[in-house]
Amino acid sequence: MPVEKQTQISPAEGKLGVLLVGLGAVSTTFIAGVEAIKKDFAQPIGSLTQMGTIRLGKRTDNRVPLIKDFVPLAQLKDLVFGAWDIFPDSAYDAALNAGVLEKELLAQLKEPLRKIKPMKAVFDQTYVKRLSGTNVKTGKTKFDLAQQLIDEINDWKKKNKCSRLVMIWAASTEIFLKAHAVHKTLESFEKAMRENHKAIAPSMIYAYAALKCGVPFANGAPNLTVDIPALMTLADKNKLAICGKDFKTGQTLMKTIIAPGLKSRMLGLHGWYSTNILGNRDGEVLDDPDSFKTKEESKLSVLEYILQPEVYPTLYKDFSHVVRINYYPPRGDNKEGWDNIDIFGWLGYPMQIKIDFLCRDSILAAPIVLDLALFLDLAQRCGMKGVQEWLSFYFKSPQTAPGLYPEHDIFIQLMKLKNTLRHLRGEDLITHLGLEYYD
Ligand SMILES: NC(=O)c1ccc[n+]([C@@H]2O[C@H](COP(=O)([O-])OP(=O)(O)OC[C@H]3O[C@@H](n4cnc5c(N)ncnc54)[C@H](O)[C@@H]3O)[C@@H](O)[C@H]2O)c1
Repeated sequence: MPVEKQTQISPAEGKLGVLLVGLGAVSTTFIAGVEAIKKDFAQPIGSLTQMGTIRLGKRTDNRVPLIKDFVPLAQLKDLVFGAWDIFPDSAYDAALNAGVLEKELLAQLKEPLRKIKPMKAVFDQTYVKRLSGTNVKTGKTKFDLAQQLIDEINDWKKKNKCSRLVMIWAASTEIFLKAHAVHKTLESFEKAMRENHKAIAPSMIYAYAALKCGVPFANGAPNLTVDIPALMTLADKNKLAICGKDFKTGQTLMKTIIAPGLKSRMLGLHGWYSTNILGNRDGEVLDDPDSFKTKEESKLSVLEYILQPEVYPTLYKDFSHVVRINYYPPRGDNKEGWDNIDIFGWLGYPMQIKIDFLCRDSILAAPIVLDLALFLDLAQRCGMKGVQEWLSFYFKSPQTAPGLYPEHDIFIQLMKLKNTLRHLRGEDLITHLGLEYYD
């Protein structure tokens, strides 16, 4: 993704279409939220693009603009939403069904939400065992389905008079798939689509279609999707930004806040036990062991990378890390996540930390979707192509260049994101050295 310092950024003119795969809890909470904010019913809490500031120059310069005033982002009034789902419910009905936002709020947003009707999905139950729906495309091969999506994306863009599009996967977590030989090159990938190869999941078909249409793509679930050489090559070839995987919300957000702090003070870790109860459709899908395996892999890697047991064997060698998700319908989207953290300090004396996070999954995820849509569009207008590692801040399992380990520490991720914005605008990067104040 190399870009020049002080890049030419084309202006955010016209409408930005945000195409969402999946019109479930996260997508509807995001869309309804944007509509509510546009009507001044609520504030964009949790969104860095809307509320965050960025320090420029020296601490004494007092230059701290809002991020949205510093880089030319699309404005909320210019966003248009489209979606695919296996259920035909409009965004209004889907939001009611998800039960995240109050009925009274949704009633006030009924008009824009009812207009958003999902397009027919590319779906195959082999990849999401707990779901079946009727709003599904048919086609002889996976390649045909991709072609249908490509036509649909182009039509949608025209019909909605958009100047630019971004696509975000916010659909159910697919079963765990390992990288396969057919994912290696674009040729082998396209051949596999024509042969209906089982290594090609629906999420890959959407990502392929997006990249063929010149649309940058973000993956909010832990599926492999765009994290394969064939699609990374396609993104490079078509000069498109991509990023993923798995929105960083809830328990993993907490982990990437707390673990860097423990490590910074050289406190050791014997074990970290995490369990969740969750009652929404995502919880139901994750109740299938194959879908959970995809999520588990995504959640487990975080601590290893942050704590670096190979560098600090005395503190972190062989710590035990367990993650569980239990589907418990009465809780709906209001997840409860417990963490028991067994740490040790001076002379090896043990201590414990207990966290009980009563969070709301989609309330944490919605601002991430907004920021990703706006930053992906910005990246595109700056000519940034390929994996956007500076957006790691938003992901549990950040996609990186091949061979590079991901950065999970949220504070490093934020510094990287802000320094990328400074770089784009030709401002000095902030290193926090600060010697000049003591000359
Ligand atoms: N909410 C969070 O905090 C969070 C965090 C990280 C990741 N995620 C991931 O985001 C995704 C969405 O979460 P959610 O809570 O909105 O789930 P959800 O079950 O409410 O919504 C997912 C929607 O995707 C649809 N769908 C499934 N396969 C599809 C396909 N092939 N094409 C089109 N639509 C399809 C389903 O019908 C459903 O309506 C999940 O994969 C979840 O794991 C969520």
